[in-house]
Formats: sequence, structure tokens, C-alpha cells
Amino acid sequence: MNILRKKDITTVISQKHTKLKKSMNTFDLVFLGIGAIIGTGIFVLTGTGALKAGPGLMLSFVIAALACLFTALCYAEFASMVPISGSAYTYTYTTLGEIFAFIIGWDLALEYMLGVSTVSVGWSGYFNSLLVGLGIHIPEQLTAPLGVTTANNEKGIFNLPAFIIVMLVTTLISIGIRETKKVNNIMVFIKVAVILLFIVVAIFYVKPDNLTPFLPYGFSGVFAAAATVFFAFIGFDAVSSSAEETINPAKTMPKGIIISLVICTILYVCVSLIMTGVVPFKMFAQYEAHPISAVLKYTNQNWISGVIDVGAILGMTTVMLVMLYGQTRVAYAMSKDGLIPKVFSIVNNKTNTPFIATWIFGISAGLLGALFSIETLSEMVSIGTLSAFILVSVSILILRKTAPNIDRKFKCPLVPIVPLLSIFFCAFLILNLDVTTWIRFVVWLIIGFIIYFSFSIRNSKLNA
Ligand code: ALA
Repeated sequence: MNILRKKDITTVISQKHTKLKKSMNTFDLVFLGIGAIIGTGIFVLTGTGALKAGPGLMLSFVIAALACLFTALCYAEFASMVPISGSAYTYTYTTLGEIFAFIIGWDLALEYMLGVSTVSVGWSGYFNSLLVGLGIHIPEQLTAPLGVTTANNEKGIFNLPAFIIVMLVTTLISIGIRETKKVNNIMVFIKVAVILLFIVVAIFYVKPDNLTPFLPYGFSGVFAAAATVFFAFIGFDAVSSSAEETINPAKTMPKGIIISLVICTILYVCVSLIMTGVVPFKMFAQYEAHPISAVLKYTNQNWISGVIDVGAILGMTTVMLVMLYGQTRVAYAMSKDGLIPKVFSIVNNKTNTPFIATWIFGISAGLLGALFSIETLSEMVSIGTLSAFILVSVSILILRKTAPNIDRKFKCPLVPIVPLLSIFFCAFLILNLDVTTWIRFVVWLIIGFIIYFSFSIRNSKLNA
């Protein structure tokens, strides 16, 4: 079966770029993780989540965190075994075979490219809130996606701020300016600081009345919101792609992934409990574009609300940088393997970056962010990511059987229970997404299969 041909895992391991310096410790990984994780999920989608779950939103965060934790343990085993860049795509190429690797790469485009689009919409919401605070008003048609009616009954045309920020991010990535460890650390500090600021200020305005009934829509509301806020955890897998640069990855990698997840979960649970305690949850229908700063405006803490706008804007920018970079890296690996056209791995001599590919992804992400709503985009990101997570967990089960003797510096505990729990939780979250999201996803997969069978299978380097 040609479509199930695999890369040999020992060859892949021997090809790793030994040139990368091993310099990352647990602390660095935690910062990298939080830098990639905290963004639109907590700053924006909590509003949508609150509408679905009511004050029980905090339970939704716990459910989504569990799905991520089980998957993270599988990722950590892979990262310690195949410590090379390319992450889930490369893992699957050695285990499930080429067609699955292609599909995972195709799914990762949903995670990364559409992730950039989603975060750009969140960014735009906070940017507008900040401008309004300063007395500047952009016409509403230019801040809403195509065809969507705004609060003042205007029909949206194009989300211009969302598009512009993606173009700026694309410019930086295309000329090779990635955020450095130092910039990332500063950003993480700012993000966590504004979230803590929110917690310590808003907690004084919590009214226990707002928290009852705790589950106005029962558990089905909690589950639906869990699928929505799952987006808030996406990004922890970015940690695993640094395995080659990590000191003693066997210990450091799982610690880094798990600590960053736990810190984010604690912050998320506190924020969601407090926001639904301050504002009656139904009011988030008016605050969906920037719920966290809106909660403080509601309490007349306008200055602090403005500070949170700034923090959120900076924080979400780094998430876009990480995601666009991740997208170009996965596409580069797929292109080198012959599964997508060569143009995605052409490195520009001057900038030393895949310049053309970066712009192809940047412009696509910018247009999608300008034209579609955050709900549509984030659900597509989540379904793509969740299916990639399922394939990674399945791969762990398979590799324990087919390659039991490979050196695993970190072993996922309680196999097969943990990978099975990961599969179960991820599938459960997928089931709680909207039916239209499933349909869009199936269409996306069909396009992927068409490309695979008409191009990739013939051009794969494994043909040689
Ligand atoms: N978890 C990231 C965010 O919430 C993708 O923006």
C-alpha cells in the first residue's frame, strides 16, 4: 500500500539537526508554552463560552484542560523519542504512514494558519476597544466580518484592523524577525500580569447572585462551551517542537508542557469564575468582542480596562507570530518531502526565510480573518487541532507495538489508558462542535485528499 509507506524512524532520528544548541531549560519551556497558549481564547472566547455555559464556564475550562493534559503526555513521549522539528507531522510519517502524515499536515494548517486568522479577529476587538477609549471611531463596517450585523445594525464588510495586523506579522516573519526568547519572556510577563490585574481588581465586584443558577443550560451547555474554549489551550504543542534545543529533554520536556498547562488552567478557571460573577452572563452577548476589558468597564474601572486592552493586544500579537512561524515550518517539512509543491520550501537568499510561502500563508490568513467571524474560525481551528491530537495519540499506541525498543527518554504513563483517554476527550470535544463545523471540516479533508492523490503521491520523496 503506497499510501501507507512510512519514513524509517531510526533514519529520521539520525537526520536531526545536531547543530542546534541545547540551551532550553524547564523555565524557558514554560515561558515558551505560556507565550503560545494565552491569547484570544481567554481574552475573547470566554465571552462566547459564558453565553453557552453560564457561570459553569469554569468547568468547561477544566474539561478542555484534561483533554490537553492527556494529549500533552503523548506529545511528550514523541518529542523525547523523535526530537526533531515538524512535530506531529513528522511523528505520524514514521508510524501511521504517508497519507496520515499528509492529513495531519493538512489539519495543522487549520491549527496554525486559521489560528492566525482567529487571533487577528480577537486582536481587532481589543484594538477597537482601545481606540474607542481614546475617542477614535473606525466605521463599524470596517471592523466586522462580511455580512455580519454589528451592534448598531451596520452590515460588516471587512475587518480591516484584523487584516492589517496579520500583514504586519507576516512582514516580520518573512524577513526573519522571530520573537526572541527575551521578547517572548517580556510578553509572557505582560500577559500574565494583565490577567492577574483583572483577577485582583474584578474579584471585589463579584456578586454571588450572578453565579446562581450555576449551570443554567445544564451539562450540555458546559460541554458545548468546553469545545469553544478548547481554543484557549492550543499552543502547548509548540513546546514539543523545541525538543532538539532542550537540555535533558527526557525530564525537561514533560515538565515544561505540564507546568505551562497547569498555570494556564489555574488562570483560566479564576478568570472565568470571576467574570461570570461580576457580570450577569447573558450580558456577554453585548461584550463578545472584548469581554475581559468590558467586565472592568462595567465596574467603571475604565483605566484598568484600557491597560488590559493594551496587554491583550501585545499578548495576542506574539501568539500570531508563533503560529505563522509554525505554519511555515510544517509546510517547509512537507514540501521537502515532496508532498506539497516546491515553492513552500524555497528559502530566500537575502532573508534566509521561506519568503514566498510566508506571504502565501500570511495573505490567506489575513483575508480569512477579515471576512469570517471568530466563532466560525475558532471552531475550524479546534476541529483541525483535535483531529491532529487524536492521530498523535493513536501513533503512540501503535509505536509501542511496532517499535518497542526505540529509546524513549520520556514514557507516557499508563499506556494504553492515557492515550485512550486523550482520544476519548478529543473526540468528545469534536462531537460538541457545531454540525456546520464538521461539514466544513469534511470538505477541507476532501480537498486534502484530492491534493494528495493528484500531486503528493506522485511527487513524494519516498518514491525514490
Ligand atoms: N491558545 C491560543 C489563543 O488562545 C491559540 O489565542
